[in-house]
Amino acid sequence: MCARACGLVGSATSPEGAAHHRTLRWTGTIPGFQPGGRTGSLGRVQPPRQYHNIALVGFMGVGKSTVGQILAGLLGFEFIDTDRVIETREGRRISDIFANEGEPFFRDLETNLIREYETRPGLIVSTGGGLIVRPENLASLRKHCLIVCLWASPAVIFERVRHQGHRPLLQTPDPLSRITGLLEQRKPAYQQADILVGVDFRSPQETAQYIANSFRLLHQARKSPQAAAAEPRH
Ligand code: S3P
Repeated sequence: MCARACGLVGSATSPEGAAHHRTLRWTGTIPGFQPGGRTGSLGRVQPPRQYHNIALVGFMGVGKSTVGQILAGLLGFEFIDTDRVIETREGRRISDIFANEGEPFFRDLETNLIREYETRPGLIVSTGGGLIVRPENLASLRKHCLIVCLWASPAVIFERVRHQGHRPLLQTPDPLSRITGLLEQRKPAYQQADILVGVDFRSPQETAQYIANSFRLLHQARKSPQAAAAEPRH
């Protein structure tokens, strides 16, 4: 556990970052990640790399778009929602794309789209829930983004999406089982994120503020480890 209780939960900080930040770990009681609710060592310190954008990844219904828009406002970044861009370009809903062309076609659209952002700075990229599962998409995001995974428990996700009908993968007689199964299946991909934020008990505003603080702190740590060490923790 972070000895200073700063709330940061894992980082892609560089070796020159403050020692404090080199020891950040995934934290909190995230069901499925830490059985028994212990804070642990699941987090991995990623190899040092440059990033100037933030990617929000995570399951359907965790609030990526809502958090992303607030975050974009906090940091003065441009907000991009991959699902909305695809729908606009295709001129139809994602459910229509799935129904007419199939999921692999949609996944290719995601992969092509995400590559476009590799050279653009100042972006909050909110991704569709399955985008991070393709290794090439993860590799693309890693080139320029701090990757933040929003994590919610299956029950909370179910509550959030149960009255929404626009997600093709959840149009099943037993959406809760589907959510539980898919979440388990995708967990290894979500675990590749630099930061994991549990959102079961956080409002979108709190989550966005938390990510903004983490991003600023990590940036600060890369520029000046001393300044970052003196920064107040949130
Ligand atoms: C999907 C999530 C959706 C959308 C599509 C597939 C998924 O996005 O990309 O329906 O595979 O999890 P949201 O996560 O924004 O709902």
